[in-house]
This record gives sequence, structure tokens and C-alpha cells, in this order.
Amino acid sequence: MKWIKGDFLHKGKGKSIYAIQNHPALVWMEFKDDLTAFNGKKTSSFKGKGALNRDMSSLIFRFLKGEEIENHWMADVNNTGMVCRKLEIIPLEVVVRNRLAGSTARKFQFSEGRPLPSPLVEFYYKQDELGDPFVSSEQALAFGFVSDGEEVEFLKTQALRVNDKLKTFFDSAGLELIDFKLEFGKEKPEEVDGSLHRENLNSKNRFLLGDEISCDSCRLWDKKTGDRMDKDRFRLNLGGIEESYKKVHDLLYRSFPAVRFYEDKLRKDKV
Ligand code: TMP
Ligand code: ASP
Repeated sequence: MKWIKGDFLHKGKGKSIYAIQNHPALVWMEFKDDLTAFNGKKTSSFKGKGALNRDMSSLIFRFLKGEEIENHWMADVNNTGMVCRKLEIIPLEVVVRNRLAGSTARKFQFSEGRPLPSPLVEFYYKQDELGDPFVSSEQALAFGFVSDGEEVEFLKTQALRVNDKLKTFFDSAGLELIDFKLEFGKEKPEEVDGSLHRENLNSKNRFLLGDEISCDSCRLWDKKTGDRMDKDRFRLNLGGIEESYKKVHDLLYRSFPAVRFYEDKLRKDKV
């Protein structure tokens, strides 16, 4: 399939979104080399970061599809592009924590890495200017970020299902998944009708998992050494950012179960 990039639609911190000619229900997500933290207050970049994050996200979204967790991934284009189903993203960042680290550890003055009895799901309001404040389920409902309690439950259950799958996925690559952030959205039904998605799996118009899942949006610790292998290297000025992203990328692609699906992708991308 030849995809042709259309009009520019939206500029994010790590990605830009474009339309795709003749496919109104899809978008072209372009991963950038920019690196930002603390809601855009700290910025940097390194060459090849967009390609690494695109590759990691693509592998993870394909893996999740294989595990029957539907998401927006459709195809990879060039080195840094991803063709995705077009979603209206809700302004909630859904965070799952397996150990306490980052903002919640800071807030309660707990040590980084404190274990939790079971995974914790939290919502944050996606609004850089306000520093992405914590949102309770009640607030999410009261402020109209979700339409009813069923949607709140769906987001929580789906986030925990993704966590279950991803914990094992990263574990098999020698990494511990400490926490991560997901974003969800809905397809506009009128854009789906008559388009590519006649078989539309999302016909109940439920939230679909979108955005990216990469070293930018997860905390990943080396299981043996405890080294941080994710964006915390940048946030905390630890150095070796590029090397860590590359290492995680290579570990995931190398250590992934020899399912044909992935072998095909490896052959296509790396030869
Ligand atoms: P936090 O500890 O800063 O709340 O972040 C928890 C996890 O979610 C961490 O892996 C980073 C990720 N995250 C993002 O990628 N973007 C965001 O805007 C937020 C709030 C968290
Ligand atoms: N709040 C997150 C961070 O500190 C996300 C971001 O701003 O990029 O990295």
C-alpha cells in the first residue's frame, strides 16, 4: 500500500500528525527526534530518536494486537512514520504503576522503586500549562472527560490488561516495567463509514488505545543492574540517553518470541 502524506493536522512535543490522502479515517504520525520532559520545560534531541520510538511503539502495538488488545496501529511508513486510525484523544493520561516512582513517589515522599501490593491506575489531565494535574475518577466524570462510569471502568480495566501483557513482554527482554502512560480516543463514526474499516472492530465506539508506547512513556529498569533505561536518564541528567533507547530497542527486537509476525517485520525493516 502506498500512503501519501496529506495536510499537517497537529504538532505534539514528540510527534506531528498529518492527514493521509484518500484515507479520511487514518492519520500519519511522524515521530520526531525532539526530547522533552517536565511538560515541555526541558528540551533536547538526538538524531535517530524518532526512528527508535516509532520502532518500539510499532512492535508493542503489534504485540498488543496479537494479544487481542485493539489499538490504532495500522502500518509503518519510512523510518519515522506510523499509519494509525484517526482518534479524538480524550484529555486523560492513564498511568499504570507497578512500583512507585516519579511524580507519585515525590508527592508522598516515598522512595523510588517502592513496591505496590497490586498495580495502581491513575488519571492525569493532559494539559502541559497546568503541569498535568492528577484527576480522580469522580473528577473525570464531573468534568466530562468521560461520559459515564462504564467508560471509567473500561479505561481502568484496559490499562490493567495492557500492563499484564507488557510486564511479561518487557520481562522477557530483561527489563522491569515500573510504570507507563497510555492515551485513548474514539473514532468518529462518520469517518469510519465507507472507509477502510468495514470490518470495524471498534463498532461499539469504545475507546481505542492510541498515541505511543516507548522509552518516552514508560519507566524501564534493567532487571539485573537496576539501571534506568528510559526518559528518566534525560529528566535526571544521568547521561547515556541515546545508548539506553537503542539498547531497549535492540533488546525488544532481539529477545521477542520467534513469532512469524515479528520475523517478517524484522526482515522488512532491517535488511
Ligand atoms: P509520572 O511519574 O511523571 O507521573 O509519570 C508516570 C509514567 O507516565 C512515566 O513512565 C512517564 C509517563 N508519563 C508520560 O509519558 N507523559 C505524561 O505526561 C505523564 C504525566 C506521564
Ligand atoms: N510529564 C511528562 C514528563 O515529565 C511528559 C512530558 O512532559 O513530556 O516527561
